[in-house]
Amino acid sequence: MPNEPAPSPARIPRHLAVIMDGNGRWAERRRRPRIIGHRAGARTVNICIDFCIARGIQALTLFAFSSENWGRPEDEVGGLMKLFLNALEREVEELDRRGVRVRFIGERDRFSDKIRERMAAAEAQTRTNATLHLTIAASYGGRWDIVQAARSLAADVAAGRLAPEAIDEALFASRVSLADLPPPDLFIRTGGDTRISNFLLWQLAYTELWFTEALWPELDETMLQRALDEFGGRERRFGLTGAQIAAQPKETVE
Ligand code: FPP
Repeated sequence: MPNEPAPSPARIPRHLAVIMDGNGRWAERRRRPRIIGHRAGARTVNICIDFCIARGIQALTLFAFSSENWGRPEDEVGGLMKLFLNALEREVEELDRRGVRVRFIGERDRFSDKIRERMAAAEAQTRTNATLHLTIAASYGGRWDIVQAARSLAADVAAGRLAPEAIDEALFASRVSLADLPPPDLFIRTGGDTRISNFLLWQLAYTELWFTEALWPELDETMLQRALDEFGGRERRFGLTGAQIAAQPKETVE
């Protein structure tokens, strides 16, 4: 629509967080093994990355594998590990070329040596990129994240480096994952369920939530744009008044 004004930057989320749900059901509806749904889901990941780059969204965090997903049937977990490894082998060059910085959050120790090496290599190769900060949450749980932050503060207290009274929200926030990014402005969950499912529990405190019945492999640009449009229409007050919020300066990712 050439005559429409460009959307105001304030209406574009700086950071988008996504629960990619519905791969299994997408495959089951087609009478195919669930791993086929995850493969289709990997294609939607690329659509989502392209969308963020095109719209100037600066950070994208994807929930790829939860702490609880290790309990799925062995063949599904094995298939997902293969898929992650293939994606790490195939996609990193292109992501690097497009200026995407790739990072992983979660309990990395639970992955095989090979996957951990690829994760570290992808992070090292893309570390100076800044077009899009892509974070893959893998073997991640929001409760785990809060516990690891608490443990790191407790270690500092035990070592005499930190007084308990010095622990405040800002210090705690500096020890959870994604501490160097603004908290997600917009959260999207596909697949029809309207819950957070142990994703970024600390970081989502004031995030706008958007849910769709569409299964993850069905998500397309039009639906993503709908989420952005609805986000743009919401007033975020963070407990303040609308007038106070309007008077605040806008921030960007550093
Ligand atoms: C949830 O759907 C999805 C997952 C547990 C895996 C997500 C993985 C991908 C999208 C594949 C590739 C990802 C990357 C980052 C390369 P579900 O299996 O719970 O679906 P269901 O609710 O229909 O069973």
